[in-house]
Amino acid sequence: MRKKIIAGNWKMNMTPSEAVALVNELKPLVACEDADVVFCVPAIDIIPAVEAAKGSNIEIGAENMYFEEKGAYTGEISPNMLVDAGVKYVIIGHSERREYFAETDETVNKKVLKAFEHNMIPIICCGESLKQREQGITIDWIRQQIKIAFLNVTADQAKTAVIAYEPIWAIGTGKVATTEQAQEVCAAIRCCIGEIYDEATAEAIRIQYGGSVSASSAPELFSQPDIDGGLVGGASLKPDFGKIVNWH
Ligand code: 13P
Repeated sequence: MRKKIIAGNWKMNMTPSEAVALVNELKPLVACEDADVVFCVPAIDIIPAVEAAKGSNIEIGAENMYFEEKGAYTGEISPNMLVDAGVKYVIIGHSERREYFAETDETVNKKVLKAFEHNMIPIICCGESLKQREQGITIDWIRQQIKIAFLNVTADQAKTAVIAYEPIWAIGTGKVATTEQAQEVCAAIRCCIGEIYDEATAEAIRIQYGGSVSASSAPELFSQPDIDGGLVGGASLKPDFGKIVNWH
């Protein structure tokens, strides 16, 4: 039985002091034993958020990471910096990073390998555009993203990974994918992992849905056999996140 994992992606929101206030506000609301709860926060909020989350069930994650150890990479954050700050999860390859910051499947793969090397759990994002969905190439596209993201990743590592299926057209639009659409793609992702590795790895890996998840859409989405939780943007900044975490 896979444990659900519900993660907030704060994106570029919340100053350090606002982050502390939000963690303190949400802490009692997201208390939950049967799901992992992660707040992925801007880099500058990580240290105060880790401090504020102490003693609670909240794990703090990062929204991005560089794939080199250290050196002349102005503005980047290294895996060691994240680990030392208390980070366990890191979002890799969010569609906003692919669109605005030129991330590619290849850089995603490098970051995924680096995250595992440092014993962090990558939340690996994939998803199709509206045009790709209309062209009927969604599954082919996602399979390609997954195959490249997992190049040289071992089965033991893959078993611990989290994949977030986030259709780009559903992000921040209020236009949530139908339960059938979300389940269909998450099942196809699990099948693809089974082809790359084996049945045990496919059964172990956790697959989230993301894109306009709300307290009202979460219960049906999270009840699907291949959806193991959500990656939540806008609603993770509000008390509603407590309802999403405690969806059943
Ligand atoms: P929204 O929940 O705001 O649509 O954002 C989804 C997302 O991009 C999470 O990573």
